[in-house]
Amino acid sequence: MKRVFSGVQPTGNIHIGNYLGALRQFVELQNDNECIYCIVDMHSITVPQDPKELRKHTLDVAALYMAIGVDPSKAIVFVQSDVPGHAELSWVLTCSSYTGELSRMTQFKDKSKGKESAPTGLFSYPILMAADILLYDTDLVPVGNDQKQHIELCRDLAIRINNKYGETFVVPDGRFLKEGARIMALDDPTSKMSKSAENPLSRISLLDDESKIKKAIMRSTTDSEGTIRFDVEQKPGISNLMNIYSSFSGLSIADIEKKYDGCGYGDFKKDLVQVTFEALKPIKERYEEIRNSDELIRILKDGAEKANDISEKTMARVKERFGLGIGK
Ligand code: TYM
Repeated sequence: MKRVFSGVQPTGNIHIGNYLGALRQFVELQNDNECIYCIVDMHSITVPQDPKELRKHTLDVAALYMAIGVDPSKAIVFVQSDVPGHAELSWVLTCSSYTGELSRMTQFKDKSKGKESAPTGLFSYPILMAADILLYDTDLVPVGNDQKQHIELCRDLAIRINNKYGETFVVPDGRFLKEGARIMALDDPTSKMSKSAENPLSRISLLDDESKIKKAIMRSTTDSEGTIRFDVEQKPGISNLMNIYSSFSGLSIADIEKKYDGCGYGDFKKDLVQVTFEALKPIKERYEEIRNSDELIRILKDGAEKANDISEKTMARVKERFGLGIGK
């Protein structure tokens, strides 16, 4: 049995990229592993948030976890800020990190591009993420490709501290899926699908209705060649749609090429609308029920207690290694 940890930021618009890259793995892993799934609200405040909206989105994401099939009797589900160990460990890791390595993080570079000064929270974001992971002696971290560099930094920090202070942390591995690891924007297949892109037709959110799904897919950017062939370099638009089709249907890319040999983009897109709608329909139905139930808060409180028990043990070990506090 492996220890699995992952998290999602509670911002609106959780989309099929989040689902196919990360969330889908949460469900798959929970039967044979010890899974811990977090709603990382402290990461969200690295950019300004409306407090009321933030809390609402935190509960929305918790309900979505359950709606996609995360089972709280198998996995621990909790909110990051309910467990103080995350912030505590984050500081300890900060003191073993370097500004040089944080400056190299592409997500920080993208978000601070053109600005004379950037929020410190954005800069140290990957350290808090490393703390999330290392706090639970995590073996595996199911995420999308965009988190690869952050996972590397987490591993580097764990190895650095283990070498200097003696075995303290488990060194984790990222877990990336082949087809879903990087779902691209539907209106621009050269940039990744994102929660914050201005054009709502660039993404499909998990709770979108059929007409929005249809509009986004039918209007998605493809190319003028008109053949359904997988080629990320030359045909990024159709390749992205094929990835989405493959991830939702379970058909391989080769099967899809065979199935749509001789067909046009219109036919393929129509089928993709159906495949996507059918996959998201049960999620939407379960979501409404869970979001409005009293169970949700009880599950999150129970999850925070369990997470806290594990994290306190790790923090006791960390304090011992670093000589922090008065000891036993
Ligand atoms: P967040 O909330 O931005 O994204 C949640 C998950 O969705 C994946 N993802 C994608 N996968 C495929 N295609 C896309 N277009 C796409 N967009 C997003 C992300 O890789 C992620 O797995 N830093 C994390 C949150 C985090 C975390 C952690 C994750 C904080 N602490 C500890 C794992 C372990 C993030 O940006 O999530």
